[in-house]
Amino acid sequence: MTTSSKRYTVTAALPYANGPVHIGHLAGAYLPADIYARYLRSTNQEVVFICGTDEHGVAITIQAQKESTTPQAIVDHYHKLIHQSFKDFNISFDVFSRTSNETHTKTAQEFFLKFHKDGKFKEIETEQLFDPEAKQFLADRYIVGTCPVCAFEKAYGDQCENCGTSLNPTDLINPKSALSGAIPELKKTKHWFLPLEDYQKDLEKYILVDHPEWKTNVLGQCRSWLINDGLHPRAMTRDLDWGIPVPLADAKGKVLYVWFDAPLGYITATQEWAAQKGEPDSWKKFWLKDHANEDTRLVCFIGKDNIVFHCIIFPAILMGQGEYILPWNVPANEFLNLEGQKISTSRNWAVWLHEFLISFPGKGDILRYALTATLPENKDNDFTWKDFQSRNNNELVAILGNLINRMTVLTHKYQNGLVPEPGTLHVEDEKLLAEISITAKAAGEAIEHFKFREALSIVMDLARTGNKYLADQEPWKKINTDPDRIPAILYTSLQLGAALAPLLEPFMPDTAHKINLQLGCGKHSWEDTLHNPRFLISGHPIAPPVLLFDKIEDDIIQQQIDALKHRKEEIEASNLPTLPSFPTKSKPEISFEDFQAIDIRVAQILSAQKIPNSDKLLELKIDTGLDHRTLVSGISQYFSPEEIIGKKVVVLLNLKPRKIKGIMSQGMILMAEGKSGELNFVTADAEPGSTIQ
Ligand code: MF3
Ligand code: ZN
Repeated sequence: MTTSSKRYTVTAALPYANGPVHIGHLAGAYLPADIYARYLRSTNQEVVFICGTDEHGVAITIQAQKESTTPQAIVDHYHKLIHQSFKDFNISFDVFSRTSNETHTKTAQEFFLKFHKDGKFKEIETEQLFDPEAKQFLADRYIVGTCPVCAFEKAYGDQCENCGTSLNPTDLINPKSALSGAIPELKKTKHWFLPLEDYQKDLEKYILVDHPEWKTNVLGQCRSWLINDGLHPRAMTRDLDWGIPVPLADAKGKVLYVWFDAPLGYITATQEWAAQKGEPDSWKKFWLKDHANEDTRLVCFIGKDNIVFHCIIFPAILMGQGEYILPWNVPANEFLNLEGQKISTSRNWAVWLHEFLISFPGKGDILRYALTATLPENKDNDFTWKDFQSRNNNELVAILGNLINRMTVLTHKYQNGLVPEPGTLHVEDEKLLAEISITAKAAGEAIEHFKFREALSIVMDLARTGNKYLADQEPWKKINTDPDRIPAILYTSLQLGAALAPLLEPFMPDTAHKINLQLGCGKHSWEDTLHNPRFLISGHPIAPPVLLFDKIEDDIIQQQIDALKHRKEEIEASNLPTLPSFPTKSKPEISFEDFQAIDIRVAQILSAQKIPNSDKLLELKIDTGLDHRTLVSGISQYFSPEEIIGKKVVVLLNLKPRKIKGIMSQGMILMAEGKSGELNFVTADAEPGSTIQ
């Protein structure tokens, strides 16, 4: 339990402003960080909770290319959307900044220049892949080719998203530029490298000696970097036209590496927050050794893909600079899957936060609860809609909602809606009241050790204990057999209900507020629950009963499951290439043999019908001249079944069959796509079975 007061700088990874946020983001970093920050505030610690959007790097330029717009338009759009989602889910940042603002550019350039001046960079000339058509150097992400491990054809130069292997661009088979489709060439370029090996010893001491208490998943990755691989120089500059310009005369067209600038965003966001408060120097005690003394703890919440950056590279930058404190803990979470599959933006396999609230208005807390209960704290975990439903129905409705409702109804029934004068409390009443502080202490310790699931379950156990108490005491019977006991029983129950509000607040802030309104008590802190928590005064009126939660029915959940599967199938069925696409250029050349491998024929449509629950898909039977077969085609928005029966079409016959909406599709009709996405049949007038060659 926290008794001595500390100061905490709590950061949550700055999300790339290249897309909306989904449940995986929330469960990875933002929700645990918010629970932690709320708890610390509620135990009277000094806290600043920092976040913002990460607006540089190729993640942004690739998205701009994909959406055919500018990087600036992308970051402006997604900064707003992401910020709104966090507000909607009550993530209580003290500041939500952006790395594209001026303070940040200035601070990041100052850091860079200090390293440069102190001779802490190595200038190295290397050969990098260059796109001769687009006339620009290619970041690893801009190189696409076949994965040498799993043969996935759209692997990136830094990673294969199919099998997860980290790659170098030179590992790819048939590498191509994602900008133009051109084959990249090697070209010389100079960059400023941070010699991480110079920090190896200090990092080993910092992590392995000073912080053996870090989570095992975090230490495991650190050990593998430090010990198995050893540290090597890493370029802190890039050839890219989007980012913070390298502030040196001989670095035209170069920008800071996004992982050099982004973590410094935590610092600039704190500076901004201080300036907004009108105390421009107050950021210093949250960051600078001289001002922080031993009292400030920097805690960085991240997902596991960010471990190396926050545990090795960022600390090395801070050590090199010299004036800053290092992270005190980096509680990284593993990944959250959705219905057994990896969350994927490109396949739209995700629950987007802004969409969740459209389907479940006012139910942000329910998602916070369900996610906290399944946080991937030590291993990857799975979110399922069924689990979400059962957390709501079997826990929130049946345990917590039921408890608060029962005590409210009974107080109105037996005590005119007033908190009773208890008279003498029995030992079981005292025992229940004592449970409050015991719970607060145990759950608080769990939070302090970043065990948020455990903390929530300890608090929910208190609600369970409350229900059991009421069931054992049976005031509805005692009203006849032992009416003198009623005031003490209800008094005890109501005090328990009131104490649940601050204990639930870090997890479900709206619900805590609703409990306070229901029981008519003011806001109390976690700290208050540790010492004689009797927040309700006898004679005080409580509000008429309202339900805290409602049951979520099966059909609502089924709709979500169907919608999810449906969206994914639409994407898979439409012929859209996944990112990155080759918008205007022709595809790279292929050999005559490659062409001969393709079996394209004329076929005739025999029957056509709409597929239920799909706007885009038709099920077709076709005569290929060889056989009659079934295929699924995404043309329903352009053609009705009636108008295409009998039509001759061009079909790719030997495409690997795949199941779409439960139907095995054996081949693909070739369509001509116009400028605005409209589809036309490729004309074919020959006999069915004629080959296209
Ligand atoms: N934008 C990165 C990501 O989403 C995280 C950046 S964290 C920071 O993975 F520290 F660099 F800001
Ligand atoms: Zn692969």
